[in-house]
Amino acid sequence: MHSTITSLSPGIARITRFSPHRQKPEGAGDMTQTNAVWVMNRHADGPMSDDNLVLREQPMPEPGEGEIRVRGVYLSLDPTNRVWLSPRYTYLPPIPLGDPMRGFIIGVVDKSRAPGWAEGDIAYGLMQWARYSIINPDRTAFMMKMPAPTEVSLEASICALAMNAHTAYYGLLLKGQPRPGDTVLISGAAGATGVQAGQIAKIAGCRVVGIAGGAEKCAMLVNELGFDAAIDYKAENVLEAIGRTCPDGVDIFFDNVGGPILDAALAHLAMGARVVICGGISDYDNIEDPDALYGVKNHFMLLMRRARMEGFVVFDFLGGADQQRCERDLTRWFQAGRLKYQAHVVEGIEHAFPSLKLLFNGGNRGKLLVRLDRD
Ligand SMILES: NC(=O)c1ccc[n+]([C@@H]2O[C@H](COP(=O)([O-])OP(=O)(O)OC[C@H]3O[C@@H](n4cnc5c(N)ncnc54)[C@H](OP(=O)(O)O)[C@@H]3O)[C@@H](O)[C@H]2O)c1
Repeated sequence: MHSTITSLSPGIARITRFSPHRQKPEGAGDMTQTNAVWVMNRHADGPMSDDNLVLREQPMPEPGEGEIRVRGVYLSLDPTNRVWLSPRYTYLPPIPLGDPMRGFIIGVVDKSRAPGWAEGDIAYGLMQWARYSIINPDRTAFMMKMPAPTEVSLEASICALAMNAHTAYYGLLLKGQPRPGDTVLISGAAGATGVQAGQIAKIAGCRVVGIAGGAEKCAMLVNELGFDAAIDYKAENVLEAIGRTCPDGVDIFFDNVGGPILDAALAHLAMGARVVICGGISDYDNIEDPDALYGVKNHFMLLMRRARMEGFVVFDFLGGADQQRCERDLTRWFQAGRLKYQAHVVEGIEHAFPSLKLLFNGGNRGKLLVRLDRD
């Protein structure tokens, strides 16, 4: 497997990985008549294993009344996919054995029996790890009609206007409640959600410090995305580095990682700080085993600094005025060039599950996507 990097626009790299071996799914036949689908084979118990999901060839599905069929163009790979492999009820019910893996897809409506949706519309939402997904747009948790590709490319839409950007917006602005001049610290800062949260915090007039793994990611945060400072958690003492880069304390900690990094941030909270728990990727492999989960030590700092710590899920804000405001602001900022993104594109549905581990070893450079088909 090799990779090429091409520049999309100043400071934005696109990485495309090509595999020399294009594997066909089990039972692969005439691809025009069938659908390739990743299905739940064995729930996770600890670190992911190769057999949690299997790729199957299934009959091409037809939409029923009120449904659309979406030809997927990009599948979004997300850390929460590991959470969804769990047999436990998390914030969504577990996926039964034999059912398709759920995932965020952007694609083209190829058949519609749903009011308000026409062939050729660009659909984004919670669908399936499949080339073709059938969904009822009115009953899907996260469903949006996206701009035509002539206005915004599908890659830009999924990176800068979809779930990760919504998460950054709701978490940073509605939960974090930034004030100009606040110091905002972000973990997992070079990832899909982190880069958007940092740029939104800059738009809100804050001083922004990112924590990421490696000199290259830290340089990208400061030199290309306008972060005020970056901490390489793989090379520095994070506790000391937060003290050095946030001398007046941390007003908002936007946490994507959890574990010892959360503890280090808690130690540096400013008075009245807000700790926004967006994710905890460092512990997702332990969710089936409470004894293995990291135990936070510095929670007393919430008391000492009269601080608030609150978790949220992006779904909490959908379907109302918050979502409308979010879509409007993200579009405006994106069009004004104030929201950059980085896409890391893996070619081919057969590489979807094997590529998920990139999120857990830091191998992704920006939003991790699987290209399923041409635009
Ligand atoms: N609350 C919500 O509704 C919501 C929605 C979307 C995402 N999230 C959460 O937001 C977080 C980021 O998601 P994303 O999609 O934007 O992924 P991402 O940041 O693009 O990729 C994950 C990154 O996490 C870092 N990481 C992995 N293991 C780590 C560890 N043990 N310690 C420190 N850093 C580690 C890696 O970056 P480095 O190279 O820097 O280590 C990796 O690139 C996840 O926790 C996810 O579950 C929450």
